[in-house]
Amino acid sequence: MNEQIKLLVDFFQQNKNISDQEKEILTKAVKRLESDLELAQFKLDRTEKVKRTTAILLEETIEELELKRKAIEETNSALENSLKDLKAAQAQLIQSEKMASLGELTAGIAHEIQNPLNFVNNFSELSNELIDELEEERAKSQESRDETLVTEILGDIKQNLSKINLHGKRADAIVKGMLEHSRTNKGEKAPTDLNALADEFVRLSYHGIRAKDKSFNADYKLELDPNLPKVNVVAPEIGRVVLNLVNNAFYAVNEKAKSSPSSHRDEGYKPEVVISSKQTKKGVELSVKDNGKGIPEHIKEKIFQPFFTTKPTGSGTGLGLSLSYDIVKAHGGELRVWSEEGKGTILRLHIPIS
Ligand SMILES: Nc1ncnc2c1ncn2[C@@H]1O[C@H](COP(=O)(O)OP(=O)(O)O)[C@@H](O)[C@H]1O
Ligand SMILES: [Mg+2]
Repeated sequence: MNEQIKLLVDFFQQNKNISDQEKEILTKAVKRLESDLELAQFKLDRTEKVKRTTAILLEETIEELELKRKAIEETNSALENSLKDLKAAQAQLIQSEKMASLGELTAGIAHEIQNPLNFVNNFSELSNELIDELEEERAKSQESRDETLVTEILGDIKQNLSKINLHGKRADAIVKGMLEHSRTNKGEKAPTDLNALADEFVRLSYHGIRAKDKSFNADYKLELDPNLPKVNVVAPEIGRVVLNLVNNAFYAVNEKAKSSPSSHRDEGYKPEVVISSKQTKKGVELSVKDNGKGIPEHIKEKIFQPFFTTKPTGSGTGLGLSLSYDIVKAHGGELRVWSEEGKGTILRLHIPIS
């Protein structure tokens, strides 16, 4: 029994003024008090324990949180790194897309260079023969020499040389254009004849595809506005756009030709790509129209997304249209699509005259 309570009980037990009955009541009350006190003490102890446990738990939680914070920090920096890697990989992909289309171009370029080279070879051989003739004439005696013939031959040689020079320059320009195409840095804007540009790149695309795929069989037509004004553009970039659009168009008509039953082919599905130019109120537009397999409605909105392709792996990167879109946008222009499944597609770029 509690010391103080014992004192209290002893006190009223010995008190003569308190009756036995009262003493009994008092003793009971004191005992109840004592058990209440014990209970309170117990509760207090428990609270104290809970408090201590909570404090420990809290400390643990704080430690855990700190660990988690560190982990998140690490994840963040890992994420940042992989974002950087991703960006680098993307830049590399764009570059390899460029190189891939350069590869596609190679066959076309070889074809284009072949032509001026033939001229250079033929005219130089011809000039050699002319010089032989000249020497023959010079070997003759003064009296029998035909001076008019000599003058004529010299004139021909001179003409040949200027043709050789002309075609040499043409080959030079083709090679320069090729180097331009593979450059990474942004080119300068310059007034450009889009008709000539379209003509050049359509031919490169056409001969490029033909050189790779012997079964490829399509026609193309140029419907160019002869009064088209020059526009201020980065020519090799717009050239890439034309190349991408025309490559896609040739692919689409070729696919349709391959999928139509051979009887149909005889009945005259004529794969055709038409490249046209036109002056508008605010600028110029260039359209690439094909009568290929067309684009299904649900795909139309995706075709400008990077990496979207419906072509088998190895045939498409899905970057052609997205890069083209960016290039046209960077020129303040617009690239739009019209298509009907099974019938064909038009892709049209509009470049404003600033
Ligand atoms: N002229 C077209 N006719 C039909 N589908 C086209 C045409 N041009 C583009 N497409 C569709 O748009 C997709 C994306 O084109 P693009 O960005 O050039 O990538 P890729 O040619 O590598 O697939 C193509 O895979 C094709 O489904
Ligand atoms: Mg493409």
